[in-house]
Amino acid sequence: MSKRNQTILSEFILLGLPIQPEQQPLCYVLFLAMYLTTVLGNLLIIMLIYLDSHLHTPMYMFLSNLSFSDLCFSSVTMPKLLHDMQCQVPFIPYADCLTQMYFFLFFGDLESFLLVAMAYDRYVAICFPLHYTTIMSPKLCLSLVVLSWVLTTFHAMLHTLLMARLWFCEDNVIPHFFCDLSALLKLACSDTQVNELVILFIGGLVVVVPFLLILMSYSRILCSILRVPSSRGIRKAFSTCGSHLTVVSLFFGTIIGLYLCPSANNSAVKETVMAMMYTVVTPMLNPFIYSLRNRDIKGAFRKACCRKKIPFHM
Ligand SMILES: *[C@@H]1O[C@H](CO)[C@@H](O)[C@H](O)[C@H]1NC(C)=O
Repeated sequence: MSKRNQTILSEFILLGLPIQPEQQPLCYVLFLAMYLTTVLGNLLIIMLIYLDSHLHTPMYMFLSNLSFSDLCFSSVTMPKLLHDMQCQVPFIPYADCLTQMYFFLFFGDLESFLLVAMAYDRYVAICFPLHYTTIMSPKLCLSLVVLSWVLTTFHAMLHTLLMARLWFCEDNVIPHFFCDLSALLKLACSDTQVNELVILFIGGLVVVVPFLLILMSYSRILCSILRVPSSRGIRKAFSTCGSHLTVVSLFFGTIIGLYLCPSANNSAVKETVMAMMYTVVTPMLNPFIYSLRNRDIKGAFRKACCRKKIPFHM
């Protein structure tokens, strides 16, 4: 490789969304509204769970953690996107780009590990109802949350350090609205083989293993319901697991579709739309999916709204 033109780029340009300039204002308002909904919705869930002592159970502690992670996950990309939509040429310095990538991976992973913890919690609650409180002790819950943080720190750090090794020389236009791992790899001038292998193996592991664990939990739940079919048991199981399954399929469906089955005609537009799905839409919908179908959360909401009025009834 010639040493001559090894200029090192210090910033990138984020191309943003594939939309026409005249659609820009409408999209801006739409995304701003979506981001505000995400922030407020998730904050509301965290507040309700914090305020209501009936909700200090493992399931709601994990849900509160999930809301926190959703809030941060969309804050990694959305404020920058909204800011960039106002700029002519949206630059992002190299260091900011890596930082954004780090936190994107961090909160994305954290979300998938928390979904595993929630699935395990439901599995224990439905399959071993009598031992639930002894198995899901506060210590175990805390350990699961800490383990998620440790694993996700390690994974995000690994990708970020591997990326920091690369150098970028000519092309600095990222055809995306945030510093995405795969979009950055395409711009690198140095050899990216190691990075691609790590993405394939570790990345695959981090997505596929949680997904399989979740599937396993819910299939065990299904088996245990079908063994003793009672309409009440079935209704109860579906009402608690339905919302979990909706979130799981939304989140993993788009990620697996995007990263693990890259079809030949994966255009930049399709990739951006899919990325929009799980960075913006999923974190926005989570609070609604959980609270709309959930009596406890609705109850806590009413209690928080009208503290004076006595019993809450459905
Ligand atoms: C996350 O879960 C842990 C363990 O249950 C809990 O102690 C902590 O308060 C939760 N954090 C949030 C932000 O809900």
